[in-house]
Amino acid sequence: MNKITIAIDGFSSTGKSTVAKQIAKELGYVYVDSGAMYRAVTLYAIKNGLISHDDFNVEALIYQLDKINLTFQFNESLGYAEVYLNGENVESKIRTLEVSGFVSQVAAVSEVRQKLVVIQKKLGEDKGVVMDGRDIGTVVFPNAALKIFMTASAEKRASRRYKELLERGDAITYEAVLENVTQRDRIDTTREDSPLVKAEDAIEIDNSELTLKEQFEKVLQLAKITIEGIE
Ligand code: DC
Repeated sequence: MNKITIAIDGFSSTGKSTVAKQIAKELGYVYVDSGAMYRAVTLYAIKNGLISHDDFNVEALIYQLDKINLTFQFNESLGYAEVYLNGENVESKIRTLEVSGFVSQVAAVSEVRQKLVVIQKKLGEDKGVVMDGRDIGTVVFPNAALKIFMTASAEKRASRRYKELLERGDAITYEAVLENVTQRDRIDTTREDSPLVKAEDAIEIDNSELTLKEQFEKVLQLAKITIEGIE
């Protein structure tokens, strides 16, 4: 069977990664979380004092980009690859509200994007990849056979994310999560380099009222039709 590239873009906390992981598992494809890479660079910037609430030393981050080594290692029990920052597994450290609070600023830096897009394109060279992010269908894989654009209301997304963070034991409020979600929407859609936009040939799915199962079935059906179509 021919393998295709599947690009899943959309706003933050739309459940892109959940469906992308499920689809990759079902098709025997590799799942790549491009947001994890932007989060890992952000974690590096926080740890090295390059970004804080009052300051973002963009030049220093650009200067230090060569020191940031990002790799993925497949975790058998999780069924997907975890991200490593300079050899350290940072999968859990990159999912905090602190990292979420800074990541859009870091992702707006062109030099950061250039570095990560090169890695992402390489990961997709052999097809058989499901990658989620913001610019996958527009910049990373403009020729992807299937492009999905996921949306949901900001309130729905914030309440899903809030539940996840509570389950992890993070001390946060729903209002803080909603604020983060809307702020990231604003920065991600208005940045100059590769803003979040729906690719012309992407299929939009609003999952505000869909269960995870319904969303999975919808995307899987689209994937199967696309694969059949190119055979
Ligand atoms: O998907 P996520 O929430 O983990 O992504 C974190 C941030 O990274 C998001 O606010 C925007 C940025 N991002 C990006 O600019 N381009 C991508 N391909 C993926 C993520």
